[in-house]
Amino acid sequence: MFMNKQIFGAPMAGITDKPFRRIIRTFAPDVALYTEMISCHSLVASHKNCLRNFDRYDDEGNIGAQIFGADAALMADAARILQDAGASWIDINMGCPVPKVATRSGAGANMMRDHDLAEKIMRAVVRAVQIPVSIKTRLGWDDAHRDWADLISIASDCGVQFAALHGRTRAQLYMGAAVLPKLENPPIPIIGNGDIKTVTDVQNVMGAGYCGAMIGRAMLGRPWIFGELTGQACVPENIGVVALQHLGYMIEYYGEKNAIPMFRKHAAWYSAGLPNSADFRIRVNGITSVPELVDEICKFWGCERTI
Ligand SMILES: Cc1cc2nc3c(=O)[nH]c(=O)nc-3n(C[C@H](O)[C@H](O)[C@H](O)COP(=O)(O)O)c2cc1C
Repeated sequence: MFMNKQIFGAPMAGITDKPFRRIIRTFAPDVALYTEMISCHSLVASHKNCLRNFDRYDDEGNIGAQIFGADAALMADAARILQDAGASWIDINMGCPVPKVATRSGAGANMMRDHDLAEKIMRAVVRAVQIPVSIKTRLGWDDAHRDWADLISIASDCGVQFAALHGRTRAQLYMGAAVLPKLENPPIPIIGNGDIKTVTDVQNVMGAGYCGAMIGRAMLGRPWIFGELTGQACVPENIGVVALQHLGYMIEYYGEKNAIPMFRKHAAWYSAGLPNSADFRIRVNGITSVPELVDEICKFWGCERTI
């Protein structure tokens, strides 16, 4: 699935669900997207809603299923389950900094300071599946340990096909500017990630030796960004129409009662920076019915009701 100079949508917990990927694919059908991160423990134990994290449309291709965990055998089992469920590739999370994942469970970013465990997991997962395996990692645990190149070299030895590198350390979380090191002959293709928002940013990343660019927060409230970057679409004339379409997908998938509170953050992102958006957000946060929410969106953007 990996192609040189490809653009990827980053895995984002609580965001890159099936309706979000669906709205993105209306602008760029074949863009490479990831699921939210999926716990290998919950997946293998078939916890309620866990395989749901990998729900996709029957015709949804080019999708990487991201798993996290610290147990090599369970990670391998999880990878097999996701391969059978139709994942295009398996991605191993080696960058999540949240304490519940990285310090308390020894997963995610912990792989950056426990390369032996990371190697065991990569070998087990690569052995378990026939589809490609990738990793997503950061520069290192903290400023004193920027050993991303060692981890990527181990990944290459293990048969991992490509890596995504977020230009921050675990200690930086999501703060400060992302800085991607210049690459010279990396052992496997590396995708650059962190603060990439524009065509120029993408060109800069490719110019620094990266084989692809991964967009994270810049896709929030801008699902057309991949269409813009790949030349398949441009900024829509009326953003309200896109917001309504996204809301419609969420209602179809989660049901009205769940979709309304879940859509609030998307409403905030779609309206960010527009005049009167603060008032709009306050009103949307108090709404509990779909017709009211649709009315509010139509009023704010001056668009027709489509759902
Ligand atoms: C709310 C949120 C959820 C995220 N969830 C994940 C995740 O599930 N897996 C992962 O590898 N990274 C996750 N990330 C990190 C992003 O994939 C990305 O690496 C990071 O946001 C930097 O890219 P950006 O500067 O383009 O946003 C998350 C980031 C945010 C802000």
